[in-house]
Amino acid sequence: MLAVVNTPNGPAPVALREVPEPQPAANEAVVEVRAFSLNRGELRLFQARPEGWRPGQDISGVVVQPAANCTSPKAGDRVVALTDNAGWAERAAVPAHRMAVLPDNVRLEEAAALPVAGLTALRTLRHGAPLLGKRVLITGAAGGVGHLATQIAARSGAHVTAVVGNAERGRHVLGADEIIDGIDKAQGLFALILEAAGGASLAAAIAHVEAKGTIVIFGNSSGEPTPLNFRDFAEHPNARIQSFSYFTSEAEERFAPDLALLVSLVAEGSLKPHLVERSWRGLAEIGPQLRDRRIAGKAVFHVD
Ligand SMILES: NC(=O)c1ccc[n+]([C@@H]2O[C@H](COP(=O)([O-])OP(=O)(O)OC[C@H]3O[C@@H](n4cnc5c(N)ncnc54)[C@H](OP(=O)(O)O)[C@@H]3O)[C@@H](O)[C@H]2O)c1
Repeated sequence: MLAVVNTPNGPAPVALREVPEPQPAANEAVVEVRAFSLNRGELRLFQARPEGWRPGQDISGVVVQPAANCTSPKAGDRVVALTDNAGWAERAAVPAHRMAVLPDNVRLEEAAALPVAGLTALRTLRHGAPLLGKRVLITGAAGGVGHLATQIAARSGAHVTAVVGNAERGRHVLGADEIIDGIDKAQGLFALILEAAGGASLAAAIAHVEAKGTIVIFGNSSGEPTPLNFRDFAEHPNARIQSFSYFTSEAEERFAPDLALLVSLVAEGSLKPHLVERSWRGLAEIGPQLRDRRIAGKAVFHVD
């Protein structure tokens, strides 16, 4: 079968190559992959991982072989799934507890946008729960995580301020009460701040967090460090900086229910992933566009 393979020494960071079929463990189903999405973090992995490594975490498709231990969806079910790697292939082996069945009105492409970005959005927001009536500030709101977090926070009753790089980047941000082009334009204090830009953005987040409020730091897209001093919290007593990693933030068995929750939000119309859709043969060209902040929402690829 064909699969995306890491080629850090080649003309492009990844290439389509022939690879062996997946060999599922007893708790794994084989999924015929129809769509997948790319995450900013995976761009770094292309450089860090060796030649021949197989990338790919966010996939959607159809179960062609249920798990031998009978714990997975059945053959023919359309599913969304999260794999550790090797998901970007014609077929992938997926643990049964890392997938959810799609309602009929959820497209495979929409579903493929959800695992890493959707779980990150959902789970970072839980650090501020309950969100009803609270002020929430979301940096990188035009990006994969940010645009989903903005919609989920709004659905949860928060008053959302979305930070984007410029007005054009804000065009696809749904659910925000206000969209500002730069965190320096933020007014007042926030109970919860989702921060993944780092550098000056994190410093500004500290200046805008409520007493006892929470800043969830889950990335450093700028690559910049942030000087930190206890005195920065003088006007924000007992505020908390919470680090976050989507893979380990909650128990393994929570993946399937959280994926099911995300697809149910899409099915009911309150979560609308913004997609840039391409053939998987165009993966290598889209990477630089994502890196350079020219992709709004999620880049999703058809396995065609
Ligand atoms: N900890 C975890 O478990 C976890 C999980 C998923 C993602 N992440 C991290 O979270 C961040 C967001 O992920 P994503 O998938 O949403 O990425 P993305 O789609 O590339 O979005 C990143 C957003 O960050 C904004 N940004 C602000 N300053 C930036 C800068 N200096 N360089 C690049 N972008 C900047 C951009 O907004 P504008 O274009 O509007 O300027 C962009 O929309 C990344 O750092 C990623 O590695 C962490």
